[in-house]
Formats: sequence, C-alpha cells, structure tokens
Amino acid sequence: MDIDVIQRVYRRYAQGYDVYFGALLQPGRKAIIEKMHCRPGDRILEVGVGTGLSLPLYPPDVRVTGIDISREMLARAHLRKHRLRLHHVSSLRLMNAESMQFPDDSFDKVVAMYVVSVAPNPARLVSEMRRVCRSGGELFMVNHFRHANPVVGGLERLVAPLSRLMGFHPDFSLENLLQETALDVEERTPVNMLGYWTLLRARNDKIAAEREPSRFGTA
Ligand SMILES: C[S@@+](CC[C@H](N)C(=O)[O-])C[C@H]1O[C@@H](n2cnc3c(N)ncnc32)[C@H](O)[C@@H]1O
Repeated sequence: MDIDVIQRVYRRYAQGYDVYFGALLQPGRKAIIEKMHCRPGDRILEVGVGTGLSLPLYPPDVRVTGIDISREMLARAHLRKHRLRLHHVSSLRLMNAESMQFPDDSFDKVVAMYVVSVAPNPARLVSEMRRVCRSGGELFMVNHFRHANPVVGGLERLVAPLSRLMGFHPDFSLENLLQETALDVEERTPVNMLGYWTLLRARNDKIAAEREPSRFGTA
C-alpha cells in the first residue's frame, strides 16, 4: 500500500475508528504499555498513533511524541489530548514513520501499535524506529501476523487482495519481517481476543546493526 492509499483509507476510517477498533484492540494497547515498564522521564515515540486511543494509558511522568501520516486520524488524537488534558503528550505530528525528521537516538522507547501490517515498507519502518531509538533502548510492536493454522492462514490469504480497501494486510508474515529486519525479539506474547494478535518486545542493538548493516536492513 502506498502512502496516498493509506491516507485515503484512514481518512474514511477516522470518524468511526474508535467504535470499530477501540475496545476490540484496547487489551493489546494496555498490555504493550505495561510491558514498556515506563520510567519517569522516559522519552517515548509512538508511530502511527492514529486517533490516540493509547495516549491516556501512559503514566503522567513520561514524555510521549506521537506521529501519523493521516491528518484526520491525528486530528482526533489532538482532540483527545486536549479533552483529557494529557500533559505527558508533548507533541503530535504529521510525519511518515518510514522517513522521520527526528535525529538519531532521540527516544528511549519506540512503539508501533497495529501499524507494521499497514505501512508501505515495514522493513524501512523498523529501520527508522531503530535509528531514532537510543542504543540499548527498546522497540515494541503489537500486530496481527499471518496465522500458523493452515485454515485460518488460508482464509487470511483469501481476503488479502482486499488489503487496499481494508487498510492493512491480513496475511502479514512475522517470519518475513524478522528475516528482513533481524529484530532482536526478546519477548512474544499473544494478546487480544483468542490471542489472535502478537506483542513483540525487542532490544535496540545498534552496535550489532552497525557491524552487520545488511542483516539489519540498515545498509
Ligand atoms: C490500524 S491504525 C492503528 C492506529 C493506532 N496505533 C491504534 O492503536 O489504534 C494504523 C495507523 O498507522 C498509520 N500509518 C500507516 N503507515 C504509516 C507511516 N508510514 N507513517 C505514519 N503513520 C502510518 C495510519 O495512518 C493509521 O493511523
């Protein structure tokens, strides 16, 4: 999916997004923020922040920056920030997570909730998440990945041609992503209904990435 397709799809979704995907995906948002073990002063970047459903879940003593490529989704995140007086949200910016304007090592923790199967180039997205996260920091993702069960996986492949309409790839492969990015995954946890989604926690090992740029997709 190209950026303009994503922008078109999420312009359409923005108004009803919280109704369709709010409660359904909220356990995964809560679980990932718990796994982040936020410490006072942590600089957190959330890429693809959408309408900001996760923002009230962060503790008040961190500093959260959110970015998204959809103006309409982001406008709702702004409203939420102001309505709920979320002072820990330091900025919400319109930005492509695959080519971010932040300097290297700007954040302690970088998180993507339900974004990798939407982004046009997931490996590029992960590479950028790595770049803006400090060495030794942590990367977090929650997403649905292609199901291991052949029947469910087959159904997902069947509806995959509709991904431009749905706004995500239902048959997105975790194995391919790990192969392309060599993410140093330390924890994998099933979340949400029936454990259909997976939470990943990875260490940001920049030294290893510099040693072997081709293996880490940073070449
Ligand atoms: C399924 S929604 C998830 C929104 C939010 N994270 C949540 O938990 O509800 C995917 C979001 O990722 C955004 N997105 C996709 N690709 C992006 C990119 N390359 N840069 C920034 N945002 C992106 C979309 O605009 C959309 O708001």
